Amino acid sequence: MSKKENDVNKIVLAYSGGLDTSVAIKWLQEKYDAEIIAYSADVGQGGDWRSIENKALQTGASKVYIDDLKEEFIKEYIFPSLKYNALYEGKYPLATALSRPLIASRMVEVAQEEEADAVAHGCTGKGNDQVRFDVTFRALDSELEIIAPLRVWDFKSRDEEIEYAQENDIPVEATKDSPYSIDHNLWGLSIECGELEDPWNEPPRDAYQWTVDPREAPDEAEYMTITFEKGIPVKVDEEELDPEDLIKKVNRKGARHGVGRIDMVENRLVGIKSREIYEAPAACILTEAHSHLEDMTLDRETAHYKNLLSEKYSELVYNGLWYSPLRSSLKAFVDETQKSVSGQIRVKLYKGRCEVVGRRAEKSLYQFDLATYDEDDSFDHDAAPGFIKIWGLPTQIAGEVKRGSENETE
Ligand code: ARG
Repeated sequence: MSKKENDVNKIVLAYSGGLDTSVAIKWLQEKYDAEIIAYSADVGQGGDWRSIENKALQTGASKVYIDDLKEEFIKEYIFPSLKYNALYEGKYPLATALSRPLIASRMVEVAQEEEADAVAHGCTGKGNDQVRFDVTFRALDSELEIIAPLRVWDFKSRDEEIEYAQENDIPVEATKDSPYSIDHNLWGLSIECGELEDPWNEPPRDAYQWTVDPREAPDEAEYMTITFEKGIPVKVDEEELDPEDLIKKVNRKGARHGVGRIDMVENRLVGIKSREIYEAPAACILTEAHSHLEDMTLDRETAHYKNLLSEKYSELVYNGLWYSPLRSSLKAFVDETQKSVSGQIRVKLYKGRCEVVGRRAEKSLYQFDLATYDEDDSFDHDAAPGFIKIWGLPTQIAGEVKRGSENETE
């Protein structure tokens, strides 16, 4: 045993109740002869917390934290990203990526309260999540030792882990093994592995967990009105809802209509491309609605500039840099832009599609008398020729010069 391993007496482990992190409790205990505190975060994935707690204790944890982080997750992570309409590579609403810095930051607090000297997680060595956890741990407390059992242990397969679990009296669920690796929270589900690893394969029916197959969605479209205040959704169909209920309601409605399925090949930070599918009804609907409201309320320059920053913001979040100085500066910027983003959006959900069909806002920049083609038109048509002449002057000159030099070579 190295000196370092001897120095580790207490470890806070991110614990899900699944096979990997259950095996990790025993494995860490054996390797470090340390006390293990299991830490589980409720970010809206649902789950039988009582049985997760019992399982951790039965497996050898000295203490279990079950932390309800839903409210903080929504207010501090989901909504700020919604303000940016954040989508990694234009598609993925970042559900998993957003939850990691929150969970890791709470683990640091627990480690400090418990005077633990290490934090541990069950991420593999080729994913993004290990980066998000480790970077957050280091940003908040660089003294803590970081242990990632899956990066170092010798188990080569799930079967070997199951064998170890059986030898060590770790309860292994009898439920049928899913071929997929699934991460789940309020903002969406991330699903990979199994047949999905061949990017040519259409996702099998059983891969999607939440949303109905759009072909089996109701034949009747459903309309929904979402009210935003300063960039944040506050009402659905005129009913004021707290953020968690609101997201859940939009998830339910979207899922019923098969809305929110995403199938993509993405660029991981660790250099590989991976195929993943996502189910994120609320994220897709609210992002679409929010961005259409901005079309009404943001001036052109702010809107276009914000889109550039949105791409950067999504990359930072995806790449585990939540605690970077740039992310907090970007937050300040987006909050400023959202002051006018209040109003209502009407969406239509139908057979896998979410279409924005109506919008209105008190501080709308859409001016009927400027836009209309009827007799109420107040746009100054006489100003157009002069504007166009000067606007197009550089292009005109370039054209003239080009034609001149073409003539010369003839
Ligand atoms: N690719 C997504 C990300 O990096 C999700 C990762 C977790 N996916 C999973 N199926 N366990 O954010």
